[in-house]
Amino acid sequence: MTADDSLEQARQIAVGVAREAGRILLQGWGTRPAIGFKSEDIDIVTEFDKRSEALIVERLAAAFPDDRIVAEEGTTHGEAGGARRVWYVDPLDGTTNFAHGMPLFSVSLGLAIDRRAVLGVVEAPALGWSFAGTVSGGSTFNGKPIAPSQVDQLVRALLVTGFPYLRNPVQNNLAEFAALTAAAQGTRRLGSAALDLCFVACGWLDGYWERALHAWDLVGGAAIVMGAGGRATDLDGQPFDGTTGRVLATNGLIHDEISRVLEGVARRENAPWP
Ligand code: IPD
Ligand code: CA
Ligand code: CA
Repeated sequence: MTADDSLEQARQIAVGVAREAGRILLQGWGTRPAIGFKSEDIDIVTEFDKRSEALIVERLAAAFPDDRIVAEEGTTHGEAGGARRVWYVDPLDGTTNFAHGMPLFSVSLGLAIDRRAVLGVVEAPALGWSFAGTVSGGSTFNGKPIAPSQVDQLVRALLVTGFPYLRNPVQNNLAEFAALTAAAQGTRRLGSAALDLCFVACGWLDGYWERALHAWDLVGGAAIVMGAGGRATDLDGQPFDGTTGRVLATNGLIHDEISRVLEGVARRENAPWP
């Protein structure tokens, strides 16, 4: 079997696992589930995050016993350090939306090999939307091939971003939000990093940036962006590495323009990117 065949097989398995996890989330969606608090009083978790994660890690570990698995709510599989293949699992991306009954939430599974995002599956069960892709084999929305937009000027671009669960005024992304909102056609905040990336991959949005995230928020969606033919990097254009928690993902055409605006903000604020 070639490397591409084995990746395609892994993609099919991951699609099935994400779909099953999505059914668990649907049991809690719209029920106003009880919430617990994590690092900050705005960083919440529900029993559905945990149930989804338990199922995903069990299924992935059975299918890929030699791979390392790292999941947001703390479940891991395999030895830490040294693993070439790592699955990053966000069992419920967009928990705040989910807890309020908003349909914009997802399950995100990403595979990195030698720290490079190569495969992603993002399932939005309340919307019936399924995104999947491999960097080498292309990306799909509900099984149909997707590609990013052709918008080539920031002033014509619709962007999206998110804000970390930090009440730290320096790292809160508001200066970047102001600068890019002034420079672009519009800016959105939707509440699921994985879906933000998929919406860039399929051309509904032209660019997305965010920081202070984690690999489980980013690796799956970034692989889908790159598989669709878009570009995903660090905020300053360096190669994408989900473990930095930073991403700039675009159709490729407005990438450098956004990067320059972000660099200008960092210089003005004298605030290094976290
Ligand atoms: C969050 C979402 C949101 C982003 C937050 C993330 P969670 O993930 O992706 O869009 O802005 O910073 O933490 O907590 O809902 O899995
Ligand atoms: Ca997340
Ligand atoms: Ca989550």
